[in-house]
Amino acid sequence: MTSAFNALKLAQEQIADLDLQLLKRKLRITESPCDTDVTISNRQLKAFCSNDYLGLANHPDLIKALAQGGEKYGVGSGASHLISGHSAAHEFLEKQLASFQEKHIPNARALFFSTGYLANLTAITGLARLAQRGDLSIYSAKLNHASLIDGVRLASTQTNAVVHLFDHTQLTSLTDTLKKDTKSLKLIVADGVFSMDGDLAPVKELLHIAEQYDALLMVDDAHGFGVLGKQGHGILEQEGIQSDRIIYIGTLGKAAGVSGAFICAQDSFIEWLIQKGRPYIYSTATPPAIAHTLLKSLEIIESDEGAKRRAQLCDLITIWQDEMTFSDWKKVSSCTPIQPVILGGNATALLAAKLLDEAGYWIPAIRPPTVPLGSARLRITFSANHSVNELRKLIMTLKRIEQQVSEKVSHD
Ligand SMILES: Cc1ncc(COP(=O)(O)O)c(C=O)c1O
Repeated sequence: MTSAFNALKLAQEQIADLDLQLLKRKLRITESPCDTDVTISNRQLKAFCSNDYLGLANHPDLIKALAQGGEKYGVGSGASHLISGHSAAHEFLEKQLASFQEKHIPNARALFFSTGYLANLTAITGLARLAQRGDLSIYSAKLNHASLIDGVRLASTQTNAVVHLFDHTQLTSLTDTLKKDTKSLKLIVADGVFSMDGDLAPVKELLHIAEQYDALLMVDDAHGFGVLGKQGHGILEQEGIQSDRIIYIGTLGKAAGVSGAFICAQDSFIEWLIQKGRPYIYSTATPPAIAHTLLKSLEIIESDEGAKRRAQLCDLITIWQDEMTFSDWKKVSSCTPIQPVILGGNATALLAAKLLDEAGYWIPAIRPPTVPLGSARLRITFSANHSVNELRKLIMTLKRIEQQVSEKVSHD
């Protein structure tokens, strides 16, 4: 047998092994738009699992804007931005995204990407190219999203950067290491809202540390953009922060309800990424109709309607934090629409997700390696389209299911 066939056989064996460890992931096919009610296999389920926090993914004004964008710009961009794919819609969108952060980043300019994964790879590897080989340290929060981790790994192999992991809830080890760091370029990188726990990064403290030790601070606000801040501009607005050391990343497929992402930083860094950011340069531009739709989405985020949607989320979060109690499972203290319940073992999390499905809810079990070993969980997320009544029904159902799971586990 050739080694190629051995590799394919190995894939099969490893998948079987994942299944045995209860770690095999499975796709579920939705037959309806992304909203709080979804249809799967002809069954209607109440979804508490998407990142569509403001409930915009199926908003009639955005659907209309997408159709108008298609009429105006067609369906494809045809090429990468630097060849011929950069349209007026992309340009308007970047201007608008920069205006959201202009109070927080002097001389702010934004660059639009098709995904947050690509934006993170570009931001980190692009920055690393500005360091002499071996003269860069990256301080990365331990619970950062996979796309930041992969960006850091790639930057580190390309430039020999030294990588330090830090606990975002306890910053003394970060400062202790920075004190001794002699590298010319230092980068601190963290999620703004940690995607699996829902807690916020201490961005004010991180910025203070960055200033003290002459580092740059990269904040991936994938789960904060649209949700945090009075106008929904994100974590920098909420924390009232202003600094030219910040490289801000926002995603547009979550609260903004569409798809894509952006990097916002000082003009010179953005221009550098346009010149040298490989994932930006060598990838086809997102269809302009999407950029056109996102302009509408930004308008809603900043409007009274956006504020009302954020207020609804706040109500849901308060009710959950006040009324949801568990006997064995662990609720996390989070002020965002991400409200995980930690169950521990993979089997328990899978059983809870199955019982929830039978009760008419879609809340998948999140298992390692997405979360640390032994912390399998139900990642419950709220949308502004959820009503208080729907949340209270979920709370009652979860209490009943916790009981059912503990009875089942004690019998086994
Ligand atoms: C914190 C964080 N950053 C980046 C991403 C990637 O964004 P995208 O889905 O647009 O690729 C995600 C996606 O879930 C995320 O949670």
